[in-house]
Amino acid sequence: MLTAEQVTQTLAPRPVRFFATLESTNDAALAWLHEGAASGSVVIADEQTRGRGRLGRVWQTPAGAALAASVVLRPPPHLLHQITMVGALAVVDLLDGLGLSDVGVKWPNDVQVRGRKVSGVLSEAAWRGQNLDGVVLGIGVNVRVDFAGTGLADRATSIEMELGRPVDRLALLASLLDAVDRWYDRLESGLTFDCWKRRLTTLGQTVTLQGGALVGQAEAVDEQGGLLVRGLDGRLRRVLAGDIAPADRS
Ligand code: BTN
Repeated sequence: MLTAEQVTQTLAPRPVRFFATLESTNDAALAWLHEGAASGSVVIADEQTRGRGRLGRVWQTPAGAALAASVVLRPPPHLLHQITMVGALAVVDLLDGLGLSDVGVKWPNDVQVRGRKVSGVLSEAAWRGQNLDGVVLGIGVNVRVDFAGTGLADRATSIEMELGRPVDRLALLASLLDAVDRWYDRLESGLTFDCWKRRLTTLGQTVTLQGGALVGQAEAVDEQGGLLVRGLDGRLRRVLAGDIAPADRS
């Protein structure tokens, strides 16, 4: 179990709010953002009871088995769309650093090992009228979540299952947040988009999107994170949000 004392000491001087159990770290971080949290402030929960995933899905964070962190960031508006790339690349660095191989990003931001999802990223922007107030970058990482016997067994995995040895969640959390800082600081350089693109496993694949309404070849991505898909009719379409059907391992 992570404790508030361990987490705040390890992450000092970063402003931290730690909860043993919480509905969703993204919700708590959005509330803190509105209260004026500084960029880099982070909400951590050992367990989430109503973790949120993309496209209205539920994200499971069982106690003692995962990382759930939401970082408040205050980027310039033109870089907003690259915040999820920051999250995905931070997880990629974490997994690379553990010596895992076959680490990639399934568009848009599922981090996978050997084609199985180990982490998801959900960033949510907060607006004050037309102005961007900030964004919450939520990252969930499966550390020792056991998917055996569940409907997710062939699509999801955990760090310890892949490594075959235990890892220290607190050390992982610290490395993950360091990596978020590193990628966030590089945002203006243009490197974030290039590196995210390089780690995508989706390009060149035949993909199925929008519940089968769009089938085609994933040709390219743009700096906003959009996916350009050449449909069977030869037309190029841009998709900004969606999910690639699991059947194609993409
Ligand atoms: C996805 O792949 O659908 C995104 C999952 C994002 C989950 C994280 S866990 C920390 C943060 N708090 C939430 O409620 N969601 C994000």
